[in-house]
Amino acid sequence: MDRYTTATLRVNGQDLQVVFPTHHTLLEVLREECGLTGTKHGCELGECGTCTVLVDGEPVLSCLALTAEMEGRSIETVEGLQDGNELHPLQAAFADLGAAQCGYCTPGMLMTATALLAENDDPSADEIRTALAGNLCRCTGYHKIIEAVEWAAGVVRGDAGAGPAREVLFGSSVPGEGS
Ligand code: FES
Ligand code: FES
Repeated sequence: MDRYTTATLRVNGQDLQVVFPTHHTLLEVLREECGLTGTKHGCELGECGTCTVLVDGEPVLSCLALTAEMEGRSIETVEGLQDGNELHPLQAAFADLGAAQCGYCTPGMLMTATALLAENDDPSADEIRTALAGNLCRCTGYHKIIEAVEWAAGVVRGDAGAGPAREVLFGSSVPGEGS
């Protein structure tokens, strides 16, 4: 028979009282007890990164973290990125650039990239690749994801000229038509 633990978790700035089987991971409790299903359930082996959340600002694979050890820590999930109706610059850039296709890897990518930009708001493409190396994507080929993080970094820095060329977003103008 399962043993249960009661804890107060600080998630996205809110204290949530939860009761859960003592051996359950943070991934399981976020999804099943907190109803925060934005954090995705992938390999459960620490290999795909899709379950990444931030704990005290650091990316953590929630499938490998025991919830019983999370009391008093600050947990951030993808649901906390948006500010009211305002998307986080990373969310907006992923959406506008097509950096999310099936979207399964996207919450983990966004959380890892959030931690990167908090440390370094002007990362090179190589630094972005290194930061996201533990987040696997089977759809996009990664190129759009790297571009989206570069674009969002520019927005976070307040660089008005940041972002891809107009053609990347809207395509080239038709020959013979004014642009
Ligand atoms: S589900 Fe956690 S790393 Fe894959
Ligand atoms: S968008 Fe499908 S796995 Fe990344």
